Amino acid sequence: MTVPVPDPPAPQPAQPAPPPTPAPSRPVVPRSSLSAPERTPPLVLVLFGASGDLTARKILPALANLADRGRLAEEFTVIGVARTQWSDEDFQRVALADASNAGERWRKYVERFRYVSGEYAATETFDRLRQLLAEADQKYGTHGNRVYYLATVPSVFAMVAEALAKEGCNVPGEGGDFARLVVEKPYGHDLDSALALDASVHRAFDEDQIFRIDHYMGKETVQNVLALRFANAVFEPIWNRQFVEQVQITVAESIGVEHRGGFYETAGALRDIVQNHVMQVLSLTLMEPPTRMDATHIRDEKVKLLKAVDIPTPDEAVDKSVRGQYTAGVVDGAAVVGYREEDGVAPDSLTETYVALRLHVDNWRWAGVPIYVRTGKRLPARVTEVALQFQRVPFLAFEGELSRELRPNTLVLRIQPDEGISLNFGAKVPGEEFRVQSVAMTFLYDSAFGDDRGSDGYPRLLHDAMCGDATLFIRTDEVEQAWRIVDPYLQAWSQPGGGLHFYPAGTWGPHIAELLLERSGDAWRIPEL
Ligand code: BG6
Repeated sequence: MTVPVPDPPAPQPAQPAPPPTPAPSRPVVPRSSLSAPERTPPLVLVLFGASGDLTARKILPALANLADRGRLAEEFTVIGVARTQWSDEDFQRVALADASNAGERWRKYVERFRYVSGEYAATETFDRLRQLLAEADQKYGTHGNRVYYLATVPSVFAMVAEALAKEGCNVPGEGGDFARLVVEKPYGHDLDSALALDASVHRAFDEDQIFRIDHYMGKETVQNVLALRFANAVFEPIWNRQFVEQVQITVAESIGVEHRGGFYETAGALRDIVQNHVMQVLSLTLMEPPTRMDATHIRDEKVKLLKAVDIPTPDEAVDKSVRGQYTAGVVDGAAVVGYREEDGVAPDSLTETYVALRLHVDNWRWAGVPIYVRTGKRLPARVTEVALQFQRVPFLAFEGELSRELRPNTLVLRIQPDEGISLNFGAKVPGEEFRVQSVAMTFLYDSAFGDDRGSDGYPRLLHDAMCGDATLFIRTDEVEQAWRIVDPYLQAWSQPGGGLHFYPAGTWGPHIAELLLERSGDAWRIPEL
């Protein structure tokens, strides 16, 4: 019997080479919370301060925008609460008038809107509110989900939050998934009052239920700072003290205090703009890259950055700041009155309408780089921008006349208007001589994407709050740290000698603000208008 001899094993193909190590430039795709769901979940939005200015100017138009773009759940409605004696119909009429361009979808929602008039902490107000919430759940399928929006005067924020808890409204209704609280600015008046407000709000709601709004975070171009820095390989390597000589953040407004003189008297530019909007832009611009684009990781990095901002003593603060107030002048060709002549402003007011600060960030990335910030009302134009000025070349071969018009390289993130980014660099001027001059390479949102920048940020922020994405909202530790940074200036300025300097409306602020920079051989940018 012959035993079959097995065939010799077929030659094995050579072992496949191990997969190549991914090139370092290959992006690792992280999990992110920045992609928003199309529609909100079913819910009732309860608007405290429903008859007020903010509701009319921002919230109702933003809701109408979301409605018309199909971003609200079918199962959605609004209950307005305020002291003004209105009927449901009055509120509905206002909701239509304030969003006069809105379409049919908005009209359909508005027909459901209800209104409660009453004192903010009165039990009767909440009895009626609870009744209407239950009715909405039943009629419109809003599922016990609630978003409470505090669009009231700040002095009642804590009172309303505590009343909501006392009346059992800080938890979802039957079968619901969430009860959230959206809070407007100003969040506190100084560090102590912000801590006290936070303690009251936290007695009523957990931190993950609280959405503190800063409308700058809703601006497309502020969010674009994340895209510019973390979706591109070319900027990050030079985004540090080795290359950047100074940073300037400007939030300039040409308007005055308009009809808000009374409020502004209690605020001033530092509280109104620097503590919130400037600190948000600053932290996004200077923070370390987050490992994930989600609420926790982005906000962790923002807080870490804010904690690295040098906090001066009140004495040092005087030296590192300038505060000003506008006098009568000319803006956009029209004569305007001085701040002290505005309605609701004291004739001897010491409130600042302009602030300039020289800040430092004490960490490895930014040590030694001055961060200049300024904001003011009645400046020559409305411009918000961040400018990173880079160091000059170590040796300039184009001497004297040849480089007279050469400025340092500057990357400007234009937040508004003419939203975009531009990089200034030196180019040869055509001709026999080798002259170099600064030119700009510019990206404009309008030309790249059309004019679709989501208006003032409110639709985006409202949608995120209703969907439960807290990425663009301000966490408790961010608010606290931002107050810690500005508090020494408030203290310094309340002392005799915490001087106030005047500037004519329509100019770039008090002359003395130049000195803040001149000492380091720097100068304020004149934004391109
Ligand atoms: C608000 C301030 O937060 O921001 C106002 O209270 C200021 O005083 C406004 O005018 C500026 O916002 P924007 O979006 O026009 O830059």
